[in-house]
Amino acid sequence: MLSAVGLSLVTTVESTCLFSGAGVNEFQNFNGSKITLSKDHLSAECKGMAIKTTLTPGSSAAQGSYTVSLTGGKNIHAEFTFQFNNAGYKLGPKGRFYMGNTSLTAGSPDGREQNYIRHVFVPSATVSGTVTVNGTQYNLAGTGLFIHAQSDMKPYTVSQKWNFGYFVGEDVALHMLQLITPEKYGNVWVNKGAMSEGGKVVAVTDQSRITMLETQRDSETGYDVGSLVEFGWKGQTVDGKPFKAQITLRPSNLAKKLDILGAVPFFLRKIIQALITKPYIYEWADQAVATVQIGDEPERTIEGKLYHEATFLN
Ligand SMILES: *[C@@H]1O[C@H](CO)[C@@H](O)[C@H](O)[C@H]1NC(C)=O
Ligand SMILES: *[C@@H]1O[C@H](CO)[C@@H](O)[C@H](O)[C@H]1NC(C)=O
Ligand SMILES: *[C@@H]1O[C@H](CO)[C@@H](O)[C@H](O)[C@H]1NC(C)=O
Repeated sequence: MLSAVGLSLVTTVESTCLFSGAGVNEFQNFNGSKITLSKDHLSAECKGMAIKTTLTPGSSAAQGSYTVSLTGGKNIHAEFTFQFNNAGYKLGPKGRFYMGNTSLTAGSPDGREQNYIRHVFVPSATVSGTVTVNGTQYNLAGTGLFIHAQSDMKPYTVSQKWNFGYFVGEDVALHMLQLITPEKYGNVWVNKGAMSEGGKVVAVTDQSRITMLETQRDSETGYDVGSLVEFGWKGQTVDGKPFKAQITLRPSNLAKKLDILGAVPFFLRKIIQALITKPYIYEWADQAVATVQIGDEPERTIEGKLYHEATFLN
């Protein structure tokens, strides 16, 4: 899993990598500067990190691929390719959610193209490559989700609570990303999610919910962290049938509790510290069971793996 938080005050490149599998949970932070972009701006490189894309303008995204190489880390070296199987989806105008609106698919409240957060998702890419942790090499072969996120706002002004889940089982993949806007913007629950099967997007919805049925106070961070969590997808398939899916679980394999301030360089830390007291990301990689129901078809029970995150930016 890869996630990146870009803070655009100075040109620094921050990337994190979490490897969870074969009994190993290993996390690595990558940072650099002096990024080189390809002419088409689709490939990027800096010391120790590179993303090379084969998306040619005009061609279908479904034929594209990304090759990621992370070589500048101490414990993790990774090299893998993301081969897209579908062109992905976006919800809302240009994939954007405008802060201040209550509708996830409407434009900005005052017509200005400002204060938005944009997400484009490409579910079910075919992933292959290798990860080496402290000299031991693991082969990667599986299914991946690509998310392109972009915003003209700082993450903590968009939401203090971010939740995310990505489930892969058999041929089916499900994901959702949720944030709750601050009071100033009306406490709107923004949730974007989809189901894919056999590499194709089957359903896209903004009606899903991640609900903390029970929480437990983490004495180290002071945050109330979900100890019984429900991921409920709800909506319609692309061909108009009612669709729902559900995963309820007790998070158990905490792969990483990331102290964001500890993971960023000094300069960024000083800036973030002034705005957020103690930002944390919890990352779990759990076994999970999903139930899926589409139209009149009988309910299916699918075993798989759920990668999920809870981010606190108070
Ligand atoms: C949401 O956006 C729509 C379309 O741009 C606009 O008509 C509506 O007034 C907005 N709603 C709010 C609560 O700002
Ligand atoms: C890798 O090495 C680091 C020390 O350099 C250690 O903290 C970590 O636990 C090791 N991880 C594994 C999976 O062996
Ligand atoms: C990367 O982070 C380390 C540790 O915070 C810091 O010493 C180093 O200067 C950073 N490198 C770049 C290129 O920002």
